[in-house]
Amino acid sequence: MLPPRILTLSITNGCNLRCAHCWPDSGAEGISSPVPAETARRIAAEFADLGGETVILTGGEPLTHPDWRPLLDFRRRSAGLREVILQTNATLIDSDIAQALADSDPANLLIQVSLDGASPATHDRLRGSGAFRRAMAGIENLCAVGMGPRMRIAFTEMRHNFHEIPDLLAMLDGLGVGRLIAGTVIKDGRAAESEQLRLPTPDQYRDLLARYEQDETFRERYDRMGTLSAIEWYKQGDDADTVCGCIETPYIDAAGRLFPCGLFQDPASGIPDAHHRPLSEIVARGLRRWSGLRETSRRRVTEIAECRDCANGNRCGGGCMGRAFSAYGAIMAPEDRCHLRRAVYADGRRKQSPTNPRLQVKPG
Ligand SMILES: C[S@@+](CC[C@H](N)C(=O)[O-])C[C@H]1O[C@@H](n2cnc3c(N)ncnc32)[C@H](O)[C@@H]1O
Repeated sequence: MLPPRILTLSITNGCNLRCAHCWPDSGAEGISSPVPAETARRIAAEFADLGGETVILTGGEPLTHPDWRPLLDFRRRSAGLREVILQTNATLIDSDIAQALADSDPANLLIQVSLDGASPATHDRLRGSGAFRRAMAGIENLCAVGMGPRMRIAFTEMRHNFHEIPDLLAMLDGLGVGRLIAGTVIKDGRAAESEQLRLPTPDQYRDLLARYEQDETFRERYDRMGTLSAIEWYKQGDDADTVCGCIETPYIDAAGRLFPCGLFQDPASGIPDAHHRPLSEIVARGLRRWSGLRETSRRRVTEIAECRDCANGNRCGGGCMGRAFSAYGAIMAPEDRCHLRRAVYADGRRKQSPTNPRLQVKPG
C-alpha cells in the first residue's frame, strides 16, 4: 500500500466569500471555529515525520484564520516537507500580506490562487461581485514582491467559464505567473444544489483540443504553463496507471476528520480526532480501514457496466473513484467526466498521425 504523500489540511471552514460551487460549504458562518495554530503546526510536523512530501493548507479561506501568520511558522520545523501550498482566493492579499508571505520562508511556500475565469463576468458569477477585481489586486501584489514564479492559479472548469481558458493563460503569462492547474467542477456541496453550475460539454473539450492543435502561441503557452485534463488526456494517451487507492492524498477537514482523499468523504471512511490524537495513530487507523480501496478502484473497470462496454476502457482505468463518489454517492458509479474522456479519446484517435510527435495515442 502506498503511504500518504500529499496532505490537504483545512484550517478553517470560515471564508470571506460564499462561492456558489463551494464543496466544503464554507462561508462567514464557519469563521468561529478555526483550527488552533498549534494543532495545525503539530499535524504538519508529524506528517513530515511520517515521510509526507507536501502539505496543502486550505479552508474555507486560510487567510481569514486569525493566526495564519504564526501558523505558517510550522514550515521551519517541518524541514522534511518538500513543499507547502497555501490555497487562497487572494482577495485579502494587500501589499503587507504579500510581503509577509514572500518573507516567511522562501524555500518551499507556493501560493495557489483560485481564479475561475479571465473576466469578472465568469469569476464573479461564482464568487460574488467584486471578487475578480480583488483577486487580481492580490495576484498583482504577490507579483510585485517577486512571488509570480512561486504562484499557481487554480481554475475550476465549468460550462460558463471554459471558453476563457486561452485568455486566462495569456493574462497570467503577461503577469509572470508560473502555472495554471484546473479541476472540473465536482457536483458536491453547494455545487450539487445548483442547476446552473454544469460540467463543460464534449464540444467545448473538442474546441480546446482544436485550438491546441492549430494555435501555436496557445500551444506553446499551454505546454509551458498549463495542466488541463482535456489536453493532458489527449497528449498522454494512456493514464490507466493513475488508478489510485485514494490514500496518497489524504484530507483533514476543519472538524478534524481524516479522509483518504478530499473527493472521497464517505462518513464511514472518516477517522475522527485528528486534532487531538497523534497523526501516526490516526493515519494507521485510516490505512487499516482503507486497505481495500486500491483493489476496489482497480475493479471499477471490469465491474462498471459502462466501462465494460467502452472501447477506451483500459485507458482511464475506470476513472476517479473519488469523483464518482462525490458526484453520485457510489464508488461503483461511472466517473462523472466519462463522456468528456470519450470525446477526447475519440479525438485523439482521429488525429493520431506519425507526423504528429506530440500524440502517442494507443489504439483503443
Ligand atoms: C474550497 S477552496 C478553499 C481555498 C480558498 N478559499 C480558495 O478559494 O482557493 C479550494 C479550491 O477548491 C475549489 N472548489 C470549490 N468547490 C469546488 C467544486 N464543487 N468542484 C471543484 N472545485 C471546487 C475552489 O475553486 C478552490 O480552487
